[in-house]
Amino acid sequence: MRIAVLSLLLVACGGAPTEPRTTPPEATGEGGALYAQYCALCHGEAGEGYAADNATRLRGQSFLTTASDDFLAMSIARGRPHTAMAGYSSNFGGPLEDPQIDAIVQHLRAWQTEASLDLGEAPLEGDAENGAQVFAQRCASCHGQLGNGGSAQSLNRWTFLSRATDPFLRHAIVNGREETPMPAFGDELEPQAIDDIVVFLRRFEEEHDVVPRYMAPPSLEQMTVIRHPDGPTPAFTLREERFVSAAQVRDALAASSRIVLLDARPTSDWLIERIPGALPVPYYAIDPIVARLPRDGTWIVAYCGCPHAASGEVVDHLREAGFEHAVVLDEGVYHWIEAGYPTESGPLDAPAE
Ligand code: HEC
Ligand code: HEC
Repeated sequence: MRIAVLSLLLVACGGAPTEPRTTPPEATGEGGALYAQYCALCHGEAGEGYAADNATRLRGQSFLTTASDDFLAMSIARGRPHTAMAGYSSNFGGPLEDPQIDAIVQHLRAWQTEASLDLGEAPLEGDAENGAQVFAQRCASCHGQLGNGGSAQSLNRWTFLSRATDPFLRHAIVNGREETPMPAFGDELEPQAIDDIVVFLRRFEEEHDVVPRYMAPPSLEQMTVIRHPDGPTPAFTLREERFVSAAQVRDALAASSRIVLLDARPTSDWLIERIPGALPVPYYAIDPIVARLPRDGTWIVAYCGCPHAASGEVVDHLREAGFEHAVVLDEGVYHWIEAGYPTESGPLDAPAE
């Protein structure tokens, strides 16, 4: 079912221009500690971006001076569905309470050295058909045909568009994002063509998947660690002694093989859709599972969406702890889902969706 839904978030509302911050970039405190634990893996320790995949630069001034606190809090709380950016809010099964999300927003703000811009919120007018054409020619190579993401971030998720005003989008397109691959199109495209693109992107806002409001996944104690304990041991062929292909894992599951599956994403994503029988072992809380894992050479396959950053973190941790048979699912879980391989959803006692 696809309908428009109002956000349930009650986080700090931004929008008003904020004063430039003088706090040094290395600002620590609660927000800094949380950022290091949950975010640095992909966005880099100092918000420089692209530590993993297309995790954006968070310390850029064109971004920070135009993104409201509400935009940032929404991005963190609900993420960008079906990308490596999970929702971190505990209201949806993630690890962070609202005050913690606010603390992270303040940490990002400490990177802002220029005054916030008041761009207003007035909607733009334009020709969506023309916008679609210009988008296909100039933007799709990085952002994907429908803005669904490619080598660059997605632009069509409702969690983004519901907080990105028309002037915010226009400003980003005109000025680009400094020190990233996002070019400034202000000198290249007519102002009306840029407005047309914005009107085209706005179309994607109206429809989005409804994400159920799960509170938390079950505790690991309630879960069975080994899938098919009496089944055969799969003969995996690894790439670079570390990566196993999705097809081999699918075949192993179909053959009821003895295997352990670990979902390395934030627990909110585990609840939305996962490989059947996978345990929630997010990259920021690996230790609780270690004592329960078999030390007899059973294959332990970790996966994430990125597709290697969070799962790689889990596998490194396990190999250091002596689990030589810990491996990374090579293509990641979104490839798995797109390939139509089996998945399950929701809390364990809920019917699969
Ligand atoms: C060469 C690749 C490339 C091309 C071409 C490109 N972009 Fe981007 N774009 C990026 C990257 C990478 C980012 C993220 C930058 C960052 O780290 O903040 C981005 C960011 C953006 C953002 C800001 C999103 C946000 O959340 O802050 C918008 C809007 C955008 N692009 C629109 C467009 C449009 C419209 C076009 C075509 C006119 C376009 N881009 C062409 C790579 C590209
Ligand atoms: C597993 C990798 C990963 C982790 C961990 C992660 N992110 Fe992201 N983040 C991404 C990716 C990838 C995107 C772009 C998603 C897309 O395609 O729209 C993103 C997007 C964002 C955006 C939107 C940026 C923009 O220009 O619109 C913000 C803000 C953000 N992340 C903040 C955070 C914070 C804060 C944390 C920690 C609580 C975090 N992220 C953790 C990968 C990650």
